[in-house]
Parts: sequence; structure tokens; C-alpha cells
Amino acid sequence: MRLIAPSILSADFGRLAEEVKAVEEAGADIIHVDVMDGHFVPNITIGPDVVKAVRKATAIPLDVHLMIEHPEKYIEKFAEAGADMLSVHFEACDLEKILTAIRKLKCKAGAVINPPSDVEKFLPFVEYADFVLVMTVNPGFGGQSLIHSCLEKIRRLHKHIYEDKKWNKLIEVDGGIKVSNVKEVTSAGGQIIVAGSAIFGKKDYKKAIEELKA
Ligand code: DX5
Ligand code: ZN
Repeated sequence: MRLIAPSILSADFGRLAEEVKAVEEAGADIIHVDVMDGHFVPNITIGPDVVKAVRKATAIPLDVHLMIEHPEKYIEKFAEAGADMLSVHFEACDLEKILTAIRKLKCKAGAVINPPSDVEKFLPFVEYADFVLVMTVNPGFGGQSLIHSCLEKIRRLHKHIYEDKKWNKLIEVDGGIKVSNVKEVTSAGGQIIVAGSAIFGKKDYKKAIEELKA
């Protein structure tokens, strides 16, 4: 299982609809949308209106990654805008409460963990999530290098989800993934591969996605 989710953070925002259609045609499985508020992370990106525009541009699932404080105030807006998957950070909220609220909105609920956070403390919340998202960079910007020590978190979550609990929850990985390291990520247990610069930074999106899938 390897699904490719291009992150539109590295797309040309002036031609966003075209960019989204282009990666869909190039073989993307999911569109990853990074929402940043300038508080939880030191960058500001987009809100529900842009998600609505992306929703109109593509038929494949929209995976909205909320890097914001107080996500509980905004989940309904993003669900209405067309998010299929909605993920929130362990570091930003009461995961049990927010993941449950996201499921009530009929979205797949994702629990995200940052590089410095303790995976053992995160494990008790996994049962409330439909998928988990392991950050392999500190969130905020595209084009950073993958932090190798985070691969251990993927292995730990894979063991917890598939061996200990026998659940069927996908593991998504985000940050610094490229053709040169994607194998390490999938071998550790990563199943949904987010890639921003490794796709939108290339001329040929089809080739970039095929290489990440190979
Ligand atoms: C980082 C974002 C990522 C980012 C990944 O805060 O959550 O989704 O766009 O970009 P690359 O693949 O370039 O590291
Ligand atoms: Zn992301």
C-alpha cells in the first residue's frame, strides 16, 4: 500500500486549480492541503475558501492538515468546504475530543505528531483516529530535509496499530520525502506519502509521482 499525496504548499498558487488537476492526471491519489495560522507554526497559508476552490478542481480525496491553534473552532468550516480527511495535531488540542468531533462531521479523522513529541504519550489517542500522520520535519514550510529519527515513530505506530491492536488505520508521513528516501519511509510502515517539493518542484509531475510510487 503506497498512496501519493502531493502537498499543494509547493504548487503555484496563482494557478492552483490547474496545478491540482495536473497532479490528479499525473496519478496522485489524494491532495494534501496545508493550513497554517501563523501561531501554531510560523507561517500563514490558506483557509476554507481556498479548500472550496480546490474541491471544485478535483474529484480525488482532499486531505486537510490543520497546523493551527484551536482547531475545534474551524473543523466544521473545513468539512463544509469539502475536506474528506481532516487532521489535527497532538500538540494543539485535546485529541480525543476533536477527533470524535471530526468523525461526527463525516470526515476521516487524523492524529498528527510532531518530531519532538513523545510517541508513547500519543499512542492512547490513536484509537480515536481513522489515520495517523507522522511529521518528519518541523511543520511550517515545504522543502525541508527529512529528520531520520522520526522513522522510529513510524515503526512504533506500525507495531501498535497492526501487530498489537490489529487495527486497520493508515499511517501517513509528511515532510522531506523524495525519491531517494521514500523506500526508508515505506519500509518503516508509511502508507500515505505526502510530497510537496518532490512533485511540484519537478517539471514532469507524472514522472515524479511514478518514481515515488515505484
Ligand atoms: C510542512 C507541511 C508539508 C509540506 C511538505 O509543514 O505539513 O505538507 O508541504 O513539503 P515537502 O514535501 O517539500 O517537505
Ligand atoms: Zn502537511
